[in-house]
Amino acid sequence: MCGIVAYVGPRLAYPILIKGLHRLEYRGYDSAGICLLNGELKVWKCKGKVSELEKYIEGEKLEGTIGMAHTRWATHGEPNQINAHPHYSQSKHLSIIHNGIIENYLVLRKELQQRGFTFTSDTDTEVLIHLIEDIQQNENVAVEEAVRIALTQVIGAYAIVVLSQDNPDKIIAARKGSPMVIGIGEDEFFVASDATPIIEYTNNVVFMNDEEIAIIERHQELKMRTVRNQERTPYIQKLEMSLTAIEKGGFPHFMLKEIFEQPRSILDSMRGRLHLDQDTVTLGGIRDYLPKILNAERIIITACGTSWHAGLVGEYIIEDLARIPVEVEYSSEFRYRNPVISEKDVIIAISQSGETADTLAAIELAKSKGATVLGICNVVGSSIARATHAGVYTHAGPEIGVASTKAFTAQVVVLTLMGLLLAEKKGTLPESYLHKLRLELGIIPSKVEKILQRADKIKDIATIYKDSTNALYLGRGYNFPVALEGALKLKEISYIHAEGYPAAEMKHGPIALIDKNMPVVFIAPKRGIYEKVITNIEEVRARKGNIIAIITEGDESVRKLADHCIEIPDTEEMLIPLLATIPLQLLSYYVAVMRGCNVDQPRNLAKSVTVE
Ligand code: G6P
Repeated sequence: MCGIVAYVGPRLAYPILIKGLHRLEYRGYDSAGICLLNGELKVWKCKGKVSELEKYIEGEKLEGTIGMAHTRWATHGEPNQINAHPHYSQSKHLSIIHNGIIENYLVLRKELQQRGFTFTSDTDTEVLIHLIEDIQQNENVAVEEAVRIALTQVIGAYAIVVLSQDNPDKIIAARKGSPMVIGIGEDEFFVASDATPIIEYTNNVVFMNDEEIAIIERHQELKMRTVRNQERTPYIQKLEMSLTAIEKGGFPHFMLKEIFEQPRSILDSMRGRLHLDQDTVTLGGIRDYLPKILNAERIIITACGTSWHAGLVGEYIIEDLARIPVEVEYSSEFRYRNPVISEKDVIIAISQSGETADTLAAIELAKSKGATVLGICNVVGSSIARATHAGVYTHAGPEIGVASTKAFTAQVVVLTLMGLLLAEKKGTLPESYLHKLRLELGIIPSKVEKILQRADKIKDIATIYKDSTNALYLGRGYNFPVALEGALKLKEISYIHAEGYPAAEMKHGPIALIDKNMPVVFIAPKRGIYEKVITNIEEVRARKGNIIAIITEGDESVRKLADHCIEIPDTEEMLIPLLATIPLQLLSYYVAVMRGCNVDQPRNLAKSVTVE
């Protein structure tokens, strides 16, 4: 969702800001804007893509070594030029960009209107900049103090940057609930919603905490205070992220690059954790909490979107291996439904971005009830990683494509490692079986590689079904979450209506939809209750549905029934999601490309959903 980037230093700000906006495009947005401070504050903004903003400001004098820029994902007010950020204050001496939602903006707006402020946009953001100006004028305080006082009056979530014409060397940034990172270069500073616009300039970063305000001034040390006016010492961290990780590296889309990175990202997610030589698993991040997990009455996994699907796989794995009851909940439901939680529960929050607002709220709720909360996150230093008691990073590397791919497989690997570790400690299963599982997990990357080599075959299938309007994905057991994930991938990026179902449930509804125009994707490897799946395939065949089946290499039985087959190598049943998901990612990708869709930035979707 909304992206923020700001700069102050010796260089021209404009090229840095525009490049930064391009790097943040993946977050999802519908308008963009920029503000440069060069004597006066100049704002340019428009609806649409960053490239449209670039065209819009062509020929303008884009000077100044301090500035800020924004991509907006509309919440209050439609996506248009007026509602796009930055917003000026009434006198045009201040300007703001904002990510988040000010919940009490209507009350504040009314009060400000009564005091003579006029509003040009429908946004909650404009309220904030008028409020800051009002405070500055009435109380005659420095801009950072006016920002601080204003923030004591707002309810909601924010990451903001404020520029002031009267302070040409100063950037004020603040956060609560929405992420913000400050990059510290040589005599220059960068501010951004995440590290991607920063890392080509510096690896030294400060992740802001909630209710912190940063006073960033040319030729000065970074200063930080809290909204409650306490001084804070900035904690500077070294980021281990390379520029190549956030570039396409020869691939036409980030999504394809990330699909093809999976042999490597899966390996990275088990590196230093799966010890085949010692026949054991270690997870340093949760070591101190192991007794708590082993004695947990139940585990509740909470997440959204693709991460929730990984959670479903995790439920099957942990129950199978460790015999601890597991429940999986959408964070958005969990947080509002008054769940029964106690100190004996362990919550596992799964999130690629580590910023999903509903998952963060679910964590806070669980913590308030005394539960132990663990995180499985991809983004190092993210809000969820910091809000949880302990956790395990997935180490999949930056994921830029909005549709999650390599983060999903990395999450499933981490959940498998957790299951193996708990089984090892609890002694729930024979060591010989755990040994087999560890070995098999270790060779999963090479099996993924083998599937990727068959991408052309999947592309051919995509050519046949690219004009479909609906699709059904069916699987049982471990392959039910895979079916859900396959359907989600297709609808996210190709806009084809797709549903995932447990194959047996088909009879309770979706079967009514099946005719000669309905593609039905079966995840039907030769493991688990394979014979039952064959029966389901027969049922679809009898109704003339088009069957695409994911099958185990060499399986002739399903091949005879299906219209198209995609082979995956054989593996242990619980590891099949790591393989079966790959062809489904590729199928969605090729269909979306053939339909001319914007694969990396699908319409209306955001990579990181920082509002509820
Ligand atoms: C958005 C993204 C999805 C992601 C979901 C959860 O909807 O587009 O790809 O699965 O959020 O995000 P998280 O970062 O918490 O995994």
